Amino acid sequence: MRVSVNVAMSIDGKIASSLREQLVISGPSDFDRVDSLRAQCDAVMVGVQTILADDPKLLIHDEVLSSDRADRGMPAHPARILVDSVGRTPNNAQVMGKDARTIILLSGAAEEERIQELKGMGATTIVSGEKRVDMESAMTLLKGEGIENILVEGGGELIFTLMEKGLVDELTVYIAPMIIGGRGAPTLADGEGFIDKFPRFSLMKVQEKDDGIVLYFKKILNK
Ligand SMILES: NC(=O)c1ccc[n+]([C@@H]2O[C@H](COP(=O)([O-])OP(=O)(O)OC[C@H]3O[C@@H](n4cnc5c(N)ncnc54)[C@H](OP(=O)(O)O)[C@@H]3O)[C@@H](O)[C@H]2O)c1
Repeated sequence: MRVSVNVAMSIDGKIASSLREQLVISGPSDFDRVDSLRAQCDAVMVGVQTILADDPKLLIHDEVLSSDRADRGMPAHPARILVDSVGRTPNNAQVMGKDARTIILLSGAAEEERIQELKGMGATTIVSGEKRVDMESAMTLLKGEGIENILVEGGGELIFTLMEKGLVDELTVYIAPMIIGGRGAPTLADGEGFIDKFPRFSLMKVQEKDDGIVLYFKKILNK
């Protein structure tokens, strides 16, 4: 399993404002870069708060990239994986559309009735963990669904858990030349935060893009 995280953030490390609503941080050529990343993966993963805040489709925009995938025998769009302990994803969320496969990671706290409802709408459901999704066992179960290569697009709560479990292999960050501020505004990694055993990454590449920069990191072992 390879897990890559990609986010867009401000100079001060915020991925949205304190309103926790969708905010355009990247420019057009960075959107194209993210489209290419989506085109290379088996699945795009987000936390349920991102679904509730942004209502994304998580599809590939460039038709050439989609048809290239089809030529390689892959689905035109990657699967969408939602990390959603009790099934709070709205029935009318755009990720529930039929353009791509939708896999919902739930926990033991999800009502059986809700799981059946989500299945009835065409989603694949995977239950792991008691109250929250256990990301380590979920990753193993995802392999059984043919998912080997995941692009995580946020938000900060999900990314923190993945970092904590040592599950992030690559991290790509677009930094826009803006300040968002706000102690309640989400950052790249929220959760409880680390006080030791800080996950560490090697900087592989720096690229200017639009009016910001893209930093490419690879995981290194904890020191
Ligand atoms: N700039 C960017 O690139 C970017 C990208 C994406 C999102 N965003 C922004 O990020 C914000 C949303 O991020 P967020 O940090 O609030 O939420 P999030 O990471 O999108 O979702 C977190 C939710 O996932 C569920 N979850 C289930 N199991 C989990 C586990 N083991 N670890 C972590 N989460 C688990 C929890 O809800 P349940 O308990 O209900 O399951 C949790 O509240 C929005 O404002 C959005 O606009 C920005």
